[in-house]
Amino acid sequence: MNEYDSAKIADILAASCGLVTTETPSKADLIILNTCSVRAKASEKVFSELGRLRFLKKKNPNLVLAVGGCVSMQEQTNIFRRAPYVDIVFGPQTLHRLPKMYEKACNKEKRIIDITTPKIEKFDYFPTPDVKGAIAHVSIMEGCNKFCSYCIVPYTRGIEMSRPSIDILAEIKTLTDQGVKEIQLLGQNVNAYRDPNKKYTFSNLIHEIAKIKTIERINFTTSHPAEFGDDLITAFASEPKLTNYIHLPIQSGSNRILKLMRRGYTCEEYQEIIDKLRKIRPNIGVSTDIIVGFPTETEEDFADTMEIVQTINFDAAFSFIYSPRPNTPAAKMEDNIPLAQKKQRLLDLQNQLAIQSRQYNKTMVGTIQKVLVVGRDKKNHNQYSGRTENNHIVHFTAPKDLLGEIVEVKIVDAMSNSLRGELL
Ligand code: 5AD
Ligand code: SF4
Repeated sequence: MNEYDSAKIADILAASCGLVTTETPSKADLIILNTCSVRAKASEKVFSELGRLRFLKKKNPNLVLAVGGCVSMQEQTNIFRRAPYVDIVFGPQTLHRLPKMYEKACNKEKRIIDITTPKIEKFDYFPTPDVKGAIAHVSIMEGCNKFCSYCIVPYTRGIEMSRPSIDILAEIKTLTDQGVKEIQLLGQNVNAYRDPNKKYTFSNLIHEIAKIKTIERINFTTSHPAEFGDDLITAFASEPKLTNYIHLPIQSGSNRILKLMRRGYTCEEYQEIIDKLRKIRPNIGVSTDIIVGFPTETEEDFADTMEIVQTINFDAAFSFIYSPRPNTPAAKMEDNIPLAQKKQRLLDLQNQLAIQSRQYNKTMVGTIQKVLVVGRDKKNHNQYSGRTENNHIVHFTAPKDLLGEIVEVKIVDAMSNSLRGELL
């Protein structure tokens, strides 16, 4: 979601202020940190990065420094207190107002702040997207009403807001006109999508997008197990353009911890969704998010997590040590697990996940995969990379430019994080 927002920020500043992006911070007129506050580490990084940027500001007094994203929502005017040289603070819902804020900062106005959460107005201000490849992100909803006890997102991104389906379909049309073949639908909770015009449910929206002939692949992230209805499950049967991949955060394998996390499902209910999906798509890639060291997590709770990781046999996962976030209910619970123990649990979990990833990749050796070509090596132009339908990266060589095309590749070797193939 932050990557999507960053791309929109670049588009909007290019269209209204003529700014172009640069790889060299010392050449920039404006530096924006688009921040994440989901864990304390990401949040703290902002302030250390600001400390470094301060020197650039000393060298170039005209440099404008802006902080956007969720840390702005969390820290608000504290950012100016901790880093007085910051000019602009804005939030995820006010990024379309940046051109005006930038103009004010250029006129030497100090401490400009807009962290309001207007009702999903920013999308109306986004210029026609500048497509950079065959895959494009499209935000369909934002925010979250789930209020998991550990999570700061509902407080920083705001409550759930869905975009009208008519706007989503119009955006997709401009993307396909520019050669996009794969649409990745984005939202904190995509299956909480509610069309303000009441035209489509989430699964109907997928079917409607699939009707666009030039779209070859559709996927979505992130969905929530508590709202994964049968209509979405059967969409995997009736809609071949839905890719063979699902990212579905489980967070813990212990029902006791899931309850404390206020996730709204049990392990058995989660397992049931995966079983139904695998009945329809036996080789579907399943990835997840897991938190270890949640307050009161015992060795037994953690063993349950290790067990479900193996039973479900996730082929990839993002795993994190629990990080208390300000004003969340879990932050009031005693964070009673020593850091060394949390680190050991994370290590054990990640070792297990690496084994599973390698095993899953090995099962792909010898298969023929449809690969969307997304990258070309800068030095060796014959070297390409692409994504399989189950979201794995394949490297292969090809004699001619294949960027943006879907090609058949035979998988010949498996590494831990990627595959090697031969173009057929
Ligand atoms: N501590 C650790 N991990 C967290 N996540 C969200 N909040 C926290 C937290 N306080 C993780 C969850 C979520 C992912 C995006 O980040 O696993 O799915
Ligand atoms: Fe956070 Fe839970 Fe919402 Fe995901 S579903 S964004 S973890 S509150």
